Amino acid sequence: KKRVFSGIQPTNNIHLGNYLGAIRNWVETQDQYDNVFCIVDLHAITLPIDPKDLHNNTRKLAALYLACGLDAAHCKVFVQSHVHQHAELSWILNCFTPMGWLNRMTQFKTKAGDDMETVSAGLYCYPVLMAGDILLYQTDLVPVGDDQRQHVELTRDLAQRFNSLYNKPVFTIPKADIRAAGARVMSLEDPTKKMSKSDPNPNAYITLLDDPKTIKKKIGRATTDSERLVTFDPARPGITNLLTIYQALTGQSNQEIEADFAGKGYGDFKAALTERLVETLSPIQQRYHELINDMPTLEAILKQGADEVRPMAEHTVQEVKKAIGLG
Ligand code: TYM
Repeated sequence: KKRVFSGIQPTNNIHLGNYLGAIRNWVETQDQYDNVFCIVDLHAITLPIDPKDLHNNTRKLAALYLACGLDAAHCKVFVQSHVHQHAELSWILNCFTPMGWLNRMTQFKTKAGDDMETVSAGLYCYPVLMAGDILLYQTDLVPVGDDQRQHVELTRDLAQRFNSLYNKPVFTIPKADIRAAGARVMSLEDPTKKMSKSDPNPNAYITLLDDPKTIKKKIGRATTDSERLVTFDPARPGITNLLTIYQALTGQSNQEIEADFAGKGYGDFKAALTERLVETLSPIQQRYHELINDMPTLEAILKQGADEVRPMAEHTVQEVKKAIGLG
């Protein structure tokens, strides 16, 4: 079976983009693959974060992974910092990563903004930590949203560079797995920006734990335009984003959806979208609350996940060290 690896940062609220771009796809194909899913808490400290929040968000995200349908029979679920090999490989790979490659990472530029003086070196090296995550498990496929494409490309380049330098297939060369529907969910407020956990305006995103009333309110006020035609149209990014979300939830084609809403207005469409969202998120929320209220079981699952993946990670680190002449 092919190995799948992916992860999400335990920061702020996990939103619809994280679900449609990542988690949902992991769940959909979990029985076809050998899966490793990580809660990447070491990534979460690249920007300032309150210790209590980090601790709690880590458990909440684990509960969400399971509530969304990841099944321990097919997946290993663990916390990045529980497996120290992530930090170890990351350091080694940093020494093989040209600064020029990192200078080209668009996500760093967005996150750092103008703050080059005080932003952490960790944020700059973040894509190398991510490359290490993927390469530790000899991963074939990395199911992510479109915004992680560049980081997976860097991972491939780094793996190829390392293998050819030592003339040995130390690393499997991974591939990004980016599905068409839901790979780039946009902000509900400004549909030219992607939906983001760090958006200061909570109306810009729908979290997986939003209740029906909140979902209705947020979809109701989501930015559209004055045309009132329920059609996919790149010139009207607001309605197109909402239609794309609807499509990701229903699996229908553009034509089917447009036909269903022909002659209807934005109000009808938004009501239908709200209904679909509530239908999708309610059962997830119910399972989430059961899991989060049973912390010992959740902790045990995470411990077991870490215990299961550690030997794989250690094996790769040993191969890397041997190739380089360390140890
Ligand atoms: P993160 O935590 O920002 O996002 C988690 C996943 O959600 C996807 N995503 C989106 N998909 C569609 N539309 C959006 N608006 C949207 N926003 C986020 C992301 O593409 C991602 O799949 N660096 C990664 C975490 C990471 C990782 C890894 C991923 C660390 N190591 C190894 C894969 C493999 C990140 O910050 O994702």
